[in-house]
Amino acid sequence: DPKNDPITVDQVESIARQKLPSNVYNYYALMILPRILRDVSQVDTSVALFQRKFPIPVGIAPSAMQKLAGQDGEMGMAGAAAAMGLNFTLSSNSTTLLEDVASVRTRCEVRSVAPFWFQIYLTTDLEHRVPLIKRAEAAGYEALVLTVDTPVLGNRINERQTPLILPEGIRLENLEPDKIQGTRKPSPNRILMDARTPEQAKIALQEIGGKAHSASLTWESTIKFLRETTKMKIILKGILAPEDAQLAVEYGVDAIIVSNHGGRQLDSVPSTIQALPGVVEAVGGRIPVILDGGIRRGSDLFKALALGADFVLVGRPALWGLAFDGQKGVETVMNILERELTRTMALAGTSNLQEINSSLLRLSVDGRL
Ligand code: FNR
Repeated sequence: DPKNDPITVDQVESIARQKLPSNVYNYYALMILPRILRDVSQVDTSVALFQRKFPIPVGIAPSAMQKLAGQDGEMGMAGAAAAMGLNFTLSSNSTTLLEDVASVRTRCEVRSVAPFWFQIYLTTDLEHRVPLIKRAEAAGYEALVLTVDTPVLGNRINERQTPLILPEGIRLENLEPDKIQGTRKPSPNRILMDARTPEQAKIALQEIGGKAHSASLTWESTIKFLRETTKMKIILKGILAPEDAQLAVEYGVDAIIVSNHGGRQLDSVPSTIQALPGVVEAVGGRIPVILDGGIRRGSDLFKALALGADFVLVGRPALWGLAFDGQKGVETVMNILERELTRTMALAGTSNLQEINSSLLRLSVDGRL
């Protein structure tokens, strides 16, 4: 009986549909309603962001410690972005020096590769991060992506159950290697690198959670500090509420990323595709709205663009690519997304991104359009 013993995802969905309140189910049931007999012989997936042209509206989200996924880590990830001319954000918690990652781009044959972006967390002592920000700027990063959904580390149940022990030789290359500057305290980086048992790794996680983030940041202090410290563009990552999107515009940031950190921070938050329409409305086209989280298929991209995202990032898919086959594996993933987006656009009757809008979407209400 498929009701008690489902053997396909479709069967699980139909059970879920009976269990869920209809307004919840309907949120998931976003459909593309294609238009026909529109010339889609030439599909153009390119997009401009900050006056830079990208072949697809998809970039690589910042994720920590990429050497864990494959030995060439950030170099493979950045190599794929450079080879394909894609947008790439380096996490400050990278296992490769930010300067080395930046050099991938300048060494690349493709002249038009846009500068990479650099993601940071701020610590309670804002000044503490000034050297890192200055290094990123000097290395040619175009934008500083401040992650704002991490005043404290999330309730990372998996990570607490199976704490991460860094393999020998892998370290957070950008952060203080040993001691916190000007003190005798070991840096979170040192504690993480030295952890060899699950117990030590657990303590390291607590240390990172407590010291590498700041719970005391405010709009006023943070944006002022960043503007005074750097000429890089400032992007806030981790906005879900329309009110915060509105504040971001008022405080003059250059773009925002609708993100729930891939579901790794607060639980019970909406999916980003649910949060997107409210944010897009609040922003009203004044700054670019970028989305990340759960994008796995061309049709996911299409829906995000149709609901008003200007650009989209992928996190785990790129990491899986890295694990699969290093730089080539990341290129494989990005090529799959490009092909699927092109095909989805053609099937939906759209030949460029400007033609993708919410008139091509429908919510399914009780199984009907
Ligand atoms: C992340 N993410 C993240 N974000 C950030 O601002 N700084 C970071 O260092 C990290 N590190 C990190 C590690 C890993 C292993 C994952 C999976 C994610 C969040 C990331 O930028 C992005 O928001 C999500 O990954 C997007 O969701 P998808 O595409 O992975 O579903």
